[in-house]
Amino acid sequence: MTEGIVYRPIGVIRSRHREPDKTPIQPVFAEGCGGRVEVFPEFADGLRDLEGFSHLFLVYHFHRCGEPRLSVRPFLQDAERGVFATRAPCRPNPIGLSVVRLIRVEGMVLHVDRLDALDGTPLLDIKPYVERFDKIDTEKNGWQDEVDDDTAGRLGKRGFEK
Ligand SMILES: C[S@@+](CC[C@H](N)C(=O)[O-])C[C@H]1O[C@@H](n2cnc3c(N)ncnc32)[C@H](O)[C@@H]1O
Repeated sequence: MTEGIVYRPIGVIRSRHREPDKTPIQPVFAEGCGGRVEVFPEFADGLRDLEGFSHLFLVYHFHRCGEPRLSVRPFLQDAERGVFATRAPCRPNPIGLSVVRLIRVEGMVLHVDRLDALDGTPLLDIKPYVERFDKIDTEKNGWQDEVDDDTAGRLGKRGFEK
């Protein structure tokens, strides 16, 4: 059964980002973009033990993306790429994934840094980033290897400065 998969949000992401084209394109370019993850009361018990982790995966719904496209121009390069070879929001299933820094847990509110999600983004899941599982030294990074670090940093911040 693949039709009609429905997820309900477990919370909402509160950030200072209101305009997509002024929002950093990844957490690595969003140092100093602090904000809150507000978890709904019925999921509060699931936050137990989370404060022991310095970084979290946030899984969320791109609620303000446009129509899905299979070919996109990524933010860092002026070339058409298959959407699944990019992190563009306008995907068939508009799911976002960000590794953010957890500052502290205050009840049902997670204070985080390095947000690249717009204010009001519906949150679908939280998972701890675990170095043992998730840290990988890659051999290749596809078309991203054609983009130098300076260019990536300049374009990726989209004007954001701490
Ligand atoms: C390139 S995506 C990457 C997001 C995530 N780190 C990922 O890899 O899935 C980040 C951009 O998506 C856009 N964006 C962020 N939150 C969004 C939302 N809720 N709806 C639509 N677009 C959003 C902003 O323009 C932001 O710069």
